[in-house]
Parts: sequence; C-alpha cells; structure tokens
Amino acid sequence: MSAIEIEGLHTYYGKSHILHGVSLSVAEGKLTTLLGRNGAGKTTTMRSVMNLTPPREGHVRVFGQETTRWPTFRIAAHGVGYVPEGRRIFPNLSVEENLKVPLERPGPWTIQRVYELFPRLEERKMNRGRQLSGGEQEMLSIARALLLNPRVLILDEPSQGLAPLIVREVFRIVSQMRDEGISILLVEQNVRMSLEVADHAYVLDDGAIVYDGPAAELAADEERIQSLAGATAEEWEEAPQQ
Ligand SMILES: Nc1ncnc2c1ncn2[C@@H]1O[C@H](COP(=O)(O)OP(=O)(O)OP(=O)(O)O)[C@@H](O)[C@H]1O
Ligand SMILES: [Mg+2]
Repeated sequence: MSAIEIEGLHTYYGKSHILHGVSLSVAEGKLTTLLGRNGAGKTTTMRSVMNLTPPREGHVRVFGQETTRWPTFRIAAHGVGYVPEGRRIFPNLSVEENLKVPLERPGPWTIQRVYELFPRLEERKMNRGRQLSGGEQEMLSIARALLLNPRVLILDEPSQGLAPLIVREVFRIVSQMRDEGISILLVEQNVRMSLEVADHAYVLDDGAIVYDGPAAELAADEERIQSLAGATAEEWEEAPQQ
C-alpha cells in the first residue's frame, strides 16, 4: 500500500490551470522527493493533497483511504503531517510553547523524543520563536509536525534559505526520520542533496510529471537533471560534498 497516492490531479487558481494531471505515489517507509523549477507546481501539489487548494479533478488516497474531499484537519488527523514553505512558527511563543501547540495524536513522538532528535531545540527551549536562526526555525517546524505522530510527512523546501552546513543537518534529520519508519514526501529545489537521500524521485515541470524513477538513476545523469529540474552546472558543483 502507498502512504500517499495521487492520481490525475488538475488544480487551478481561479482560471489558471496549474496542475495538468499529476500522478505520483509515496511508498510506505520510503523517502520520495518531488523536484522542479520555481513555479513548477510543487507547492500546489502539496496543497492539493492537504485539500488547502482543492483539486478540480483527480484523486488522493492516504494509506488506501480516499481523502480527496476531506477537510484539511481530517487529513491531518488521518496521519499526514505537513510542514509548509516558510516556517510558520509562532514568533512570540517560546520553543517549548510552540511544541505544545499541535493537537496531540498519540504515538511514539513526544516532546522528549523530539528534543533527542533536535538537541539544539532543547538548548533553546525557553527562547522565543523569533530569536531562533533560520535553521532552528525549520527544525522547530519539523519537530512540531512530528508531535502529531504522522504516518507520512510532507516537507515543502525545508532547506530554503539556510546556510550549507545547516542544510546538511536538515537533510540528515530527514533521512533519520525515514529510517525510523516515517514515509516522507520531500519537496525541494536542492536537487543534489535530495537525490542523495531519496529512494524515489519525481520531477515536475509546468504542472506535469516529467521524471518518475529511482533517485539514484537520476542522480547519475547530470545532463538530465539540468534539463529537467533546471539545476545549473554551478549549483551542481558548488553543493557541499559528503
Ligand atoms: N495563490 C495563487 N494564485 C495564483 N497563482 C498562483 C498562486 N500560487 C501559485 N500560483 C502559480 O501557480 C504556479 C505554481 O506555483 P507553485 O507555488 O505550486 O510552484 P512551486 O513549484 O512550489 O514553486 P517554488 O519552487 O517557487 O516554491 C506558478 O505559476 C505560480 O505563479
Ligand atoms: Mg513552492
């Protein structure tokens, strides 16, 4: 069974037709990455899954259950954690208060376990959200989503705007979560590192899937990455080495 299965999604903003029949699946216990240029439709795909921007056509299934017309809160309660672009943490609440915001869904993730995964957050638990660095804010957003004990986690560009060392740390945590059994859909513009950690990759271009295959296969084909995902040779070379 797939954690998430998307079939033939067509999504619009008003009259603008953004997704043109997007289909993809996130295998249980695997890390799937969705890559693509600016404006390709990655965020719209995530919003369609969460029904934040309801698709006009197509189907979404989560662990075999059709969720297409469900309200967002019910999709979340069914086990889908969503960390949107831009780290929506509460700037005036402390780290610990931010972590206490989500409605609890019982499971292995507790505040204590989240602190073990993110020791930095424990050190800063009394600091307010706005006092955190970009990397710490991203960790807080991911930590908050984990406390919902999701069975599948959707991350929208967690590395955006972070310094290279912190980016590496975020990717390390993402693959650690996969190793702990969480199914993950990772939306990224950092092509190289996403392909390093992912099991399966999709590339979206202009609202349509243009690559669907093993991440390792795409990683080995630099020319293809450049033509599909728009990563320039410089970006590819400048990415820090393992
Ligand atoms: N609220 C909106 N109203 C109208 N058009 C929108 C809206 N949000 C996004 N779009 C358009 O939909 C298209 C897809 O946007 P989307 O945000 O899904 O792309 P993306 O792949 O996530 O890009 P990025 O890498 O920049 O985050 C773009 O052309 C964008 O301009
Ligand atoms: Mg986006």
